[in-house]
Formats: sequence, structure tokens, C-alpha cells
Amino acid sequence: MSGLLIGGSGLIGGYLLHYFKTKTPEIDVRSPNSKKLSLRELDDIIGYFKRHKPDFVINCAITAIRSDALLSYAVNYLGSINLARAALALDIPYIHISSAATMPPGENLTEEDRLPLDASLGNYAKSKLMTEMTLKHMHEKYGLRYTLIRMAIVYGAHDHKIQGINRLLFNIVDRAMPFMLTKKKGVLHSYSNANKVPYFIHHILKNIEEFSGQHYHFVDPEPVDLAKLILTIKAYMNLKTPREIYIPYPIAKAGNNFMNWVIKVFNRLGYKAHVPAEMIFLENFYKTQTLSCEKLKNSSFVDPNPQATIFTELPSLIEYYITRWEHLNLFSSFSSENFSSPDATTKKADPAAELAPIFMGSPAKLLDTMHNDGIAPLKEIL
Ligand SMILES: NC(=O)c1ccc[n+]([C@@H]2O[C@H](COP(=O)([O-])OP(=O)(O)OC[C@H]3O[C@@H](n4cnc5c(N)ncnc54)[C@H](OP(=O)(O)O)[C@@H]3O)[C@@H](O)[C@H]2O)c1
Repeated sequence: MSGLLIGGSGLIGGYLLHYFKTKTPEIDVRSPNSKKLSLRELDDIIGYFKRHKPDFVINCAITAIRSDALLSYAVNYLGSINLARAALALDIPYIHISSAATMPPGENLTEEDRLPLDASLGNYAKSKLMTEMTLKHMHEKYGLRYTLIRMAIVYGAHDHKIQGINRLLFNIVDRAMPFMLTKKKGVLHSYSNANKVPYFIHHILKNIEEFSGQHYHFVDPEPVDLAKLILTIKAYMNLKTPREIYIPYPIAKAGNNFMNWVIKVFNRLGYKAHVPAEMIFLENFYKTQTLSCEKLKNSSFVDPNPQATIFTELPSLIEYYITRWEHLNLFSSFSSENFSSPDATTKKADPAAELAPIFMGSPAKLLDTMHNDGIAPLKEIL
């Protein structure tokens, strides 16, 4: 069996690619990057399908969240639909990743709940919502064999962007959140574990009739209180901020508008800055949105790790992202010298770490050592 995965370099696609590479020798998944197969190019899609004739398609591609109308429409909507049309032509399953951005706030929302399609929606939500609607229509009109998976706030390692839960983590750690941008209690959200998505998709592929033509929420069963999550990160990192002063939404919104204005002025002066993309979701910090996972529970899928939640995964995520962001020199005020994680003793030593000081202080010596010992042919290959 061979499959086409679009978006394999992304957060969710990365988990999928790793899973199929290591756990399913019988399934060969190819994931051309967007230079080889761009969803914006219909010819790329046609050419790929003509050459490779995959047995299934998974689409977890998405353009950057702050993209303009053209890019959001062309990649998130039209690209997804063209991909589904190709799947339809070969009569193969099409698995599409969608988002809770297509739904209103509320509790225990079902798969049938969604926002009314309206011009005032943001580009991301509008393109995802239109895709959901067209895929359903294609199923009803032509029998498209598709499954749509709605994700809420996704957590997982190896995310190249700093967005969503990672932005929250980054801001808390870098002390860029002096006060609480939420209510004291009761703002609940659903979370999706990226690590578990491949298990679900593999299960769908093995039970295609059960899941075909269906939408599923893929979220942890227990919703999470945002204030509790922020305070847990703060306590884990032993930080003083954010202080437990809860900023009401109108003030937070006014502050955000003010910052947008200041940044515009600075940009005109030649400095480049922008407000984090997820500030368009500021309202969500103050409103509950929880997704029902009843339909998923009642399906034949069995959660591979029911104990895992954002709280159980937090220590390893913090460990991973702090190391990553520090290597990339992204922090302006945080230094891990003042932070020793409770998991530090179990951390694997990085062999390159010993050489980094020599790289900094005596590059010529390092070059010599390499030329003497480190450049012979890699015999292991032979
Ligand atoms: N992350 C979240 O918190 C979250 C929450 C809810 C729902 N979701 C949904 O989950 C899905 C995956 O999100 P993610 O966070 O994993 O995405 P991501 O990390 O931003 O990755 C985006 C992927 O899309 C690919 N891509 C972008 N433009 C493309 C184009 N024109 N043609 C083909 N591929 C293109 C990129 O490939 P290249 O690198 O090759 O350009 C990249 O692999 C999306 O449908 C998103 O709506 C995500």
C-alpha cells in the first residue's frame, strides 16, 4: 500500500511521517514538499497522481495562519478540494485535517456544530470551514470517500513555528506575559495530542468503510482550564510571572489594538515587528470552547495512551522547546542556567555539546582535528 501525505514537514504531518516510517513497513508513505507538489498548482497534483497512483491521501497542509485571503483560499481551500478531486478520480480514501476554528465557542460541541459561513470570518477559519462544507458536498454528490478530523489546540514536539500552546509557553518562559490574559476560572478548551493522530489515521485506513463520509473530533476527553495550565507552567518553571492579576477582555483587546498601532508606527520607521499571529484568537482566551469526543469514543478506535494529557506531556514539551528555542537564540530574557528541570538527570547528553566551546574559541584546532580524524569515507554505507 502506498500513500500520499501533504504537509509532512509540519507539526502533525511530521508525526505521521515518523509513524509510517517506523511502525508500518507494509505502508509506504511519500511526502513531497511544497516545492515538489504545491497545492496551489493543479498541474503538480495531476502530475503526481498520474505518476504514482497512491492508494490513499492524507492532507495536513496549511498556509501560515496570518496569510492573506488569496493564499488562504488557494492552499487551504482550493488546494484541498483539488486533492479531494484527484482522490475521487481514483476512488481512494482522502483524509483531511481540519480545525476547531470552524466552530463557535461553547461546551461539548458536536461534529455537526459549525460557524455560519460569513464574509467577516478570518481567512483561516473561512477557508477551513468552506473546505469542510465542500468535502461533505462532494461525498453526497459523488461519493467521495473522505474522513475529516477536527483538531483543537494541538500539543506535540518538533513544531517549527511558535504558535498556539507553544506561543503561550514561549511567552510565559520569556516573561512576556506579566499578567493573566484570561479569566480566573472556567475558561475551558479542548486539546489534541499530535502523537496520537497517526494511530487514528492508521486505524481509519484499516477500517475505511466505518469512517468514510464522517467527521470526527480528535481531542483528549477532559477539557483544560486555561488559567490552571498557565499557572502549572509558571510553577514548573519556578517563575514569578504572570502575576495572578486577571486582565478583563475589553482591556486586553484595547491593549492589543494599541500595540498594533505602535507596531505600525515602528514598522514605518524601518523596524520590523508584528503582534503574534494568535492574537487574532485573543477572544478565545476568554471563551470556553470544548469539543465532544463521544463520536470518537463510540467508534472502533481505541486510544493508544488514555493517560496522556497536556499535563502529563508538559515536562517533556517544556524540556524540548526550551532547548530548541535557546539553541535558536529566540529568548530575550530567559536563560536555562537558572532553571534545572526535574527531568534533567534523565536527559540524553548531546555529543556535539562538548565540541561547541571549541567551535567558539578555537575553530582552527577543531578544523585540524576534523581533517585528521573526521573526514574519511563513511564505510558503514558499504
Ligand atoms: N497546529 C495546531 O495547533 C492546529 C490546531 C488545529 C488544527 N490544525 C490543523 O492541522 C493541520 C496541520 O497543521 P500543522 O500545525 O501541522 O501545520 P504546519 O506545522 O504549519 O505545517 C504546514 C505544512 O503545510 C505545507 N504546505 C504549506 N503550503 C503548502 C502548499 N502550497 N502546498 C503543499 N503543502 C504546503 C508545509 O509544507 P512545506 O514546509 O513543504 O512548505 C507544511 O508541511 C492543518 O490542517 C491545521 O488546520 C492545527
